[in-house]
Amino acid sequence: MNADQRELFDAALRAYGNAHAPYSNFPVGAAVRSSSGRVFAGCNVENAAYPQGWCAEASAIAAMVTAGEREIVAVLVLAGGAEVITCCGGCRQKLVEFADRDVPVWSCDLDGIRAEHTLGALLPNSFGRGWAR
Ligand code: THU
Repeated sequence: MNADQRELFDAALRAYGNAHAPYSNFPVGAAVRSSSGRVFAGCNVENAAYPQGWCAEASAIAAMVTAGEREIVAVLVLAGGAEVITCCGGCRQKLVEFADRDVPVWSCDLDGIRAEHTLGALLPNSFGRGWAR
């Protein structure tokens, strides 16, 4: 893991520790790096009314946008368990709003990076700002 990835990983791991996932028991942490170089992390936040919960990536994106930033240059998502986490379909679309198709998405377990994809590979032929404007 390089220093860039390490910074994202550490931020996502801290967020993972704060996840509110009492219904799925599947805490998730995520971190995005914006074009200014800043890192924004988030966790999943579930709700007793199940559909009202949201994903870690959504929290990280919201933190970035709240800070006034609009461009994601790297993404890292982290969860425990045997299966390597990957972003859900809804989060792929949310990421497309703020990231180009060549942006790396690193999938991690608690020990490190387990897979790397580009956003374009995760959501090919997507409808988004790059295609719509
Ligand atoms: N989850 C995420 O936070 N990110 C993903 O990309 C996949 C799923 C969350 C949603 C829910 O709180 C829990 O994981 C189980 O689906």
